[in-house]
Parts: sequence; structure tokens; C-alpha cells
Amino acid sequence: MPKRIESQEEAISGIENAQQYAEMAKKSAKMMYGSFLKHIKSLDVKGGEYLEVGAGPGILAAMIAEDNPDVYITAVEISSDMVTVAREYIEERELEDRVRFVALDAADEVMMEELGEFDLVYSTLAMHHWKDPEKVISNLLKVVGDGGVLFIHDLRRVWWLYYLPLHNSGFIDSIRAAYMPDEIKTIFQRLGINRCEIKRRFPYFMQSIIVRK
Ligand SMILES: C[S@@+](CC[C@H](N)C(=O)[O-])C[C@H]1O[C@@H](n2cnc3c(N)ncnc32)[C@H](O)[C@@H]1O
Repeated sequence: MPKRIESQEEAISGIENAQQYAEMAKKSAKMMYGSFLKHIKSLDVKGGEYLEVGAGPGILAAMIAEDNPDVYITAVEISSDMVTVAREYIEERELEDRVRFVALDAADEVMMEELGEFDLVYSTLAMHHWKDPEKVISNLLKVVGDGGVLFIHDLRRVWWLYYLPLHNSGFIDSIRAAYMPDEIKTIFQRLGINRCEIKRRFPYFMQSIIVRK
């Protein structure tokens, strides 16, 4: 398998970039998040306190909150520009009582622990951006409450997209920065977790990591 090429930027910064991402995510919401919503339901999470990590402009958080009226979501995001765009969107959807955005780096152990504990900690399309995935995952595992679930949904580094001769394509760069199942297992093993389930998802450049506490 070809070598991983790290994401150039960890955060998606700049108001214009955040707005552009938000518009793209709104237009492609069904395609980007439709199957993820089903996967969340299939996890059979007990309790309605959710933590979303690397939540971007809040499109998915709003979909989950609208789909699950008993759920409260804390959404964390490293880019303050994304947080500005997300808060506007959450207000527009009138969800501010159930979805709150916090600007923080998920690798910051102290700030993460201050958030409390959650029944579901989830993240989509963000892991390949994390500068220190081991630290982030260690922090996420600490805030999953007893009986809770950690669910990370991200791209896979598939060779048939990796080798496409495209430069300056955000999507292909993300595929090149994505992890393979063995690399993910190694990260979890270093954290002392051997019971992590990695599922290949359709379309086959997607995968999910599930850890139950
Ligand atoms: C490709 S976007 C995905 C956004 C959203 N989860 C989605 O599925 O559309 C990745 C997001 O993760 C954020 N991010 C990257 N590293 C982070 C970190 N260490 N802590 C919190 N957010 C982070 C980026 O700023 C960006 O908004």
C-alpha cells in the first residue's frame, strides 16, 4: 500500500474556506452523511449525550439533532472560523438549545476532560486531519462514559484513488492522508485497546472504527 501523505493543514481556517465547506456539505449532505446517520442508529446507543469531534460547519450535527429530538450534542472544532459558521447555521435551524459548539483542539487533554462524559463520541471525515491521532483518540476514549460508544468514520487510503494523477484535489489529498486498518489497529494497541472493530463501508473508500466501553 502506498505511503501515507500527511494533510498539509490540520484546521480548515478562514471564514471563506469555512463557508465554502459549509455550502458543499449542505449540497452533498445526503451523500456525505446519509449512511452515517443509519450507522449511528445501528449502534443502539443508550443515552442522548453526544460529542462530535472536528465537527466542521455543523451540517451533520444539525441533521443528527433533527433526526433525534432527545439528543444533546457538544460539537468541538479546532477552527474558530468553522465555529462561527457553525453557530450561525445552528441558530438558523433553531437548534441552539441542543447543539453547542466549542472551539478547541481535540488533542488538548485538559479542555477535552472539562467537557464531561458522553454516551456517544463520534467523528466524521476528520481523523486524517489530526496531527496527533494517538493523543486525540486517547482523549476521546477518556470522555466516553460507561456503556458508551466511540465511533470514528473516515476515509481509507485506497490505491485506486491514491494514484489518480490529480493535484490540488482536496478529496484525493484526503485519501492520501487517510489511514489503513492496520495503522489504526496499531494506534489503538499502543493505547492498550485490542477490541476495536474496523468496518469497511460502502463506498469502499470509507471505513468506521467502533469501540464500546
Ligand atoms: C474535512 S472536515 C470534516 C468536517 C465534518 N466532520 C464533516 O464530516 O463534514 C475536518 C474538520 O476537522 C477539524 N479538525 C482538524 N483537527 C482537529 C482537532 N485536532 N481538533 C478539532 N477539530 C479538528 C478541521 O478544522 C475541519 O473542520
